[in-house]
Amino acid sequence: MKSSEPDKNCKLCERLYSFRKNNRIRFPDWFNKPVPSFGSQESNILIVGLAPGLQGANKTGRPFTGDYAGKILYETLLKNNLASGFFDEEGKDNLKLHNCRITNAVKCVPPQNKPLGSEINNCNNFLIKEIKMLKNLKIIISLGRVAHLGILKVFKLQNSKYTFAHGKIHKIDNIVLINSYHCSKYNIFTKRLTVKNFNKVFKNINSYL
Ligand code: URA
Repeated sequence: MKSSEPDKNCKLCERLYSFRKNNRIRFPDWFNKPVPSFGSQESNILIVGLAPGLQGANKTGRPFTGDYAGKILYETLLKNNLASGFFDEEGKDNLKLHNCRITNAVKCVPPQNKPLGSEINNCNNFLIKEIKMLKNLKIIISLGRVAHLGILKVFKLQNSKYTFAHGKIHKIDNIVLINSYHCSKYNIFTKRLTVKNFNKVFKNINSYL
């Protein structure tokens, strides 16, 4: 099986490396490593998030597992038959993704959930590898603007020609790129994104296959 993942001791980003090292001391039972993508490499659909949450993916080792955003994402995937089984916030479950894979624009937890531009750039190399590796890729869903910009960078496309908006659909060669607001607690609580509007992104996804 091919890998698009950084080394588990990746030192490309000094700040993220030292944050991870500190977290290993503070929370020795947690994952505290670059979080690998989740789902089959044969998938047609790739969902790109922002970065692991401290007490979410950084703790459990699985993207979007353990925080509010993950509850919204996995409930939506289950509702739309893109996942089956039961979802547990600690990842102690039998959840299976169907024809989709989840990754992050930045693989390591950033302080305050905010990666720096240089960190997003460093990690873009792994997104390039990921996208190249997925031979059946037909649809990319960007959760939030950072993910969207990361994807444009992979394809060397200009932001001014591919602007980000919730529900917007872009064609990139044979791939359909669908924009969504990130399903973060902040976006849901401020009503920038409703669960219903998030669901709409996934509801007719198979029509693009
Ligand atoms: N957890 C992730 O893995 N990614 C996000 O973007 C948010 C939470």
